[in-house]
Amino acid sequence: MTGIQIYAAGLVLLMVVACNEDNLRPNVDVEIPEFDFPETVVFEQNLSAYSIFEGTPADLIPANDFHLLELSSILFTDYAHKQRLVKVPAGTQMTRMNDGVIDYPDGTILTKTFFYQNDARDTSLGKRIIETRLLIKESGIWNIATYLWNQEQTDATLALNGIDTQVSWITADGSSQSTLYYVPSQNECMTCHQSNSTMTPIGPNLRNLNRMVERNGASLNQLTHLQAVGVLNNFEVSQVAQMVDYNDASASLSQRGRAYLDMNCAHCHNPNGWEGATEREFDFRYETPLSQSGILFEEDKIINALLDREMPFIGTTMLDQEGVNLIMEYIDSL
Ligand code: HEC
Ligand code: HEC
Repeated sequence: MTGIQIYAAGLVLLMVVACNEDNLRPNVDVEIPEFDFPETVVFEQNLSAYSIFEGTPADLIPANDFHLLELSSILFTDYAHKQRLVKVPAGTQMTRMNDGVIDYPDGTILTKTFFYQNDARDTSLGKRIIETRLLIKESGIWNIATYLWNQEQTDATLALNGIDTQVSWITADGSSQSTLYYVPSQNECMTCHQSNSTMTPIGPNLRNLNRMVERNGASLNQLTHLQAVGVLNNFEVSQVAQMVDYNDASASLSQRGRAYLDMNCAHCHNPNGWEGATEREFDFRYETPLSQSGILFEEDKIINALLDREMPFIGTTMLDQEGVNLIMEYIDSL
């Protein structure tokens, strides 16, 4: 190519990037180091080896020994739907620890499957499943990996290195959405899933599971249900604290704001998180008193980091507009 051709090709690339600006990776150059984490399982090449689903895999019907977990507050990821499941080995249980954290037995598998309804107005038009993420505990250590679903939606294959994939869907109000969805690399999984440099689950703690759910047509407490099917040890559920759903407009603004920051930011911004983030002296955990969270001293910085698409800098390519509105309203109220 001549110099002019190279220049022209560069220009085209720039224009493509510029058109897609809203959907591009966040706006900040944070370097993620290569983490050193021990592994105690060898991941299978194909997701089907774990027998997570029964019947047609794309229907996402959990096999008998996998149990649905529903969280009160969730992580935003490009508007994807997520199904979360847990399996513990036969004859073992999850156990409540003193501080409300769950201790999982060796052999536990936690899964999270990301998908989009092709048209949110009519689910009979099908969905596209993107990835299924796994956490597997063995010899006391959590192992992490994700599986990318094939085009036929019959199985998924191990994907450890990070992959872009274009997704598009129609929202409930009929508008078209699309983004260049990013499947994180294994090292990026560790960025969020670490506590004191050790791999850890994030979502299923007791307070985030302590909520009403529908099972077999009945409405019941999720912890009570997990106890009834034998996978959670027995304790008085009424003693467990509850996390609010940040989308629940009937909850207080301060609880909703803190629940959002807990599930979307606190996995990095807490004293035991990845040191790249803990240097910032935020502690966004739900239970941390407001005066110690750093929120009051950095109100503008928090809002700007969201609006400028600097934070969170991995895990989503799109701005969570509803979430940002909530945080602005919350911070405004302080
Ligand atoms: C941006 C931070 C972030 C990254 C990157 C990330 N996760 Fe997570 N992950 C979370 C949060 C927060 C939750 C809990 C909230 C939820 O599920 O909505 C979670 C939940 C999960 C769960 C369900 C059990 C649990 O811990 O709550 C699995 C399994 C999981 N992640 C696996 C992975 C894998 C595999 C990767 C890498 C391919 C990954 N995650 C990358 C933040 C992250
Ligand atoms: C994957 C880990 C991670 C997640 C998730 C994350 N942050 Fe951060 N955050 C960082 C790191 C690392 C820095 C330091 C960035 C730098 O060095 O420029 C930072 C810096 C910040 C800053 C300081 C910016 C400045 O100008 O000094 C704010 C404010 C912030 N984060 C807010 C948030 C909020 C709000 C969320 C959730 C919506 C969030 N972060 C989610 C890792 C994270």
